[in-house]
Amino acid sequence: MTGWLQGYSALITGGGSGIGAAVAQRYVGEGACVTVVGRDRARLDAVVESSADPSRMHAVEADVRSSEQLHAAVGESVARFGKLDTLVANAGVWDFQRQLTRLSVDELDRTFDELFAVNVKGYLLAAEAAWRELVRNRGSIVMTLSNASFYVNGGGPVYTAAKHACLGLMKELAYELAPRVRVNGVACGGMNTDLRGPVALALEDRSIAASFAKRTQSAPPPPIPLYDSSVDPVDFTAPYVLLASREQSGPITGHAIQVDGGMGVRGFQHDAGGDHLMDLVSKERT
Ligand SMILES: NC(=O)c1ccc[n+]([C@@H]2O[C@H](COP(=O)([O-])OP(=O)(O)OC[C@H]3O[C@@H](n4cnc5c(N)ncnc54)[C@H](O)[C@@H]3O)[C@@H](O)[C@H]2O)c1
Repeated sequence: MTGWLQGYSALITGGGSGIGAAVAQRYVGEGACVTVVGRDRARLDAVVESSADPSRMHAVEADVRSSEQLHAAVGESVARFGKLDTLVANAGVWDFQRQLTRLSVDELDRTFDELFAVNVKGYLLAAEAAWRELVRNRGSIVMTLSNASFYVNGGGPVYTAAKHACLGLMKELAYELAPRVRVNGVACGGMNTDLRGPVALALEDRSIAASFAKRTQSAPPPPIPLYDSSVDPVDFTAPYVLLASREQSGPITGHAIQVDGGMGVRGFQHDAGGDHLMDLVSKERT
């Protein structure tokens, strides 16, 4: 651990599981106090209880579609820890890559409204609830973005559009809140979390974890250069620490760190260009 967030106070939406919970634990390890916000009280309490220091964690039940509940969460966070330095806008759902041609008009209509309300409006409402505190403290916002903020096929059209929208939101807020508040993103690739689908598609009980469980030793590796990289959310937390730290990333705003195994540098014949390199260095040693 770096201690880069010593004395910080952070609020994380969707902090009850997945990357939100992993960032919460990491932030506490880095010296911060953390308020985890989500819809499931039991899960939030479990995150607090499993923390290295539960006294530096606080759980608030709130739906990110409710401005009132988000304002209350920010208020509780400030009451408990004295201030707010960092907002991690993170709560989200996935469309399980449901393509346009496989959606009825009714499903499309309802999926769009539900997913955008959580994934996009939820980020904007959280920023609205937090900006005054962040301005006071020269704080920052870190948004969980996605490979779907840059590339196709990480979702269907609804999720891809929503994550592209979040990229735009991140840049616009970076402009509007400068110079007091920095706004950045972490564009995560596939992670083994509990990411769920929308009620509109009756996918609220299905988890992305099932897709990872289906992957077998014999299945082809994912088509990314770092195809052997981890899908454990814990291994995606470091950029969240960097971007929250005003000491370590003071001049960085409006930027997305892509943590996706190198999707942007895939080759044509082979996903990774260096599969032969271990053989090469082994031969050189002998
Ligand atoms: N898992 C992946 O492969 C992956 C890849 C790229 C980006 N992401 C993004 O990561 C973020 C976190 O997802 P995750 O993968 O950790 O999944 P997750 O389901 O484990 O975490 C998301 C959390 O958000 C909460 N949430 C959902 N709707 C909410 C609402 N209306 N109000 C309050 N909380 C709500 C859930 O209860 C859950 O705790 C999402 O924005 C997702 O789009 C995930």
